[in-house]
Amino acid sequence: MQIMKHIVPVVSGKGGVGKSTVAANLAIALANTGAKVALIDADFYGPSVPTLFGGGNIQVDHEQKLIPPEKFGVKYVSLAFFLQNPDDAVIWRGPMFNKALNQLFQDVNWGNVDYCIVDMPPGTGDAQISLCQMTQLSGAVVVTTPQEVALADVRKAISMLGKMDVDVLGIVENMSGFIAPDGTRHDIFGSGGGVALAERLQVPLLAQLPLDPAIREGGDIGVPAITQEGSSISEPFSQLALKILEILDKKSHSGQQTAVVN
Ligand SMILES: Nc1ncnc2c1ncn2[C@@H]1O[C@H](COP(=O)(O)OP(=O)(O)OP(=O)(O)O)[C@@H](O)[C@H]1O
Ligand SMILES: [Mg+2]
Repeated sequence: MQIMKHIVPVVSGKGGVGKSTVAANLAIALANTGAKVALIDADFYGPSVPTLFGGGNIQVDHEQKLIPPEKFGVKYVSLAFFLQNPDDAVIWRGPMFNKALNQLFQDVNWGNVDYCIVDMPPGTGDAQISLCQMTQLSGAVVVTTPQEVALADVRKAISMLGKMDVDVLGIVENMSGFIAPDGTRHDIFGSGGGVALAERLQVPLLAQLPLDPAIREGGDIGVPAITQEGSSISEPFSQLALKILEILDKKSHSGQQTAVVN
């Protein structure tokens, strides 16, 4: 039996807002606090975790369980590890998706895990429904950019979470302003959208992450921003992790059940 104390998906209705970036950096930030952390890439159609973590290989143990690679203190898996050619497209219908996602939880030798972060694909489709039905989720982290077109999709995602009885732990406003080298701030994707959404839903605003080329570069070269300890790009992710720890801790004390995987 493997126990995952908290399973937390990182979601958004919209693509490209930074779910994978937040999921990867959050997972590492949580591991930096000494916790046992797993990261599951559930974006089967556009897996990003292998790139963000600079690759990785799955091994098989004597019980035919899969041993996940571990880096930056995080154990992680992605469907991309099982594709013969990383550029292959995955063409699946719901039931196959369901089975594959289940296997990433059950057939992997995770050991006991404090926090399992799940990087979700955009939207409110098969992945979201499967995950909500399959596991006991502690709540979701919702990522948005400040602009209305992102917020509109995010509201849909939040409405779906409500229907599936999944709590929103809070909102992360990503790409929330670019600070130019001369120190001036440019709100490239608008401003205040995440704040307004959090207020309206009465959920915490967990972080406002800057738009910073170093965050993208870190992801592209497989060394996420959080690993640059003490820098202006790692600090917001550390703060985000601490806020999430606090919220989950309260939930544990209020009697929330832990998830048993297999
Ligand atoms: N705060 C940021 N500053 C600069 N670049 C960022 C920031 N957040 C994300 N990016 C970049 O934006 C792009 C999209 O981010 P990411 O892949 O994390 O989004 P996503 O929501 O997971 O996308 P998808 O919906 O395709 O899964 C990536 O190139 C990433 O490096
Ligand atoms: Mg992604």
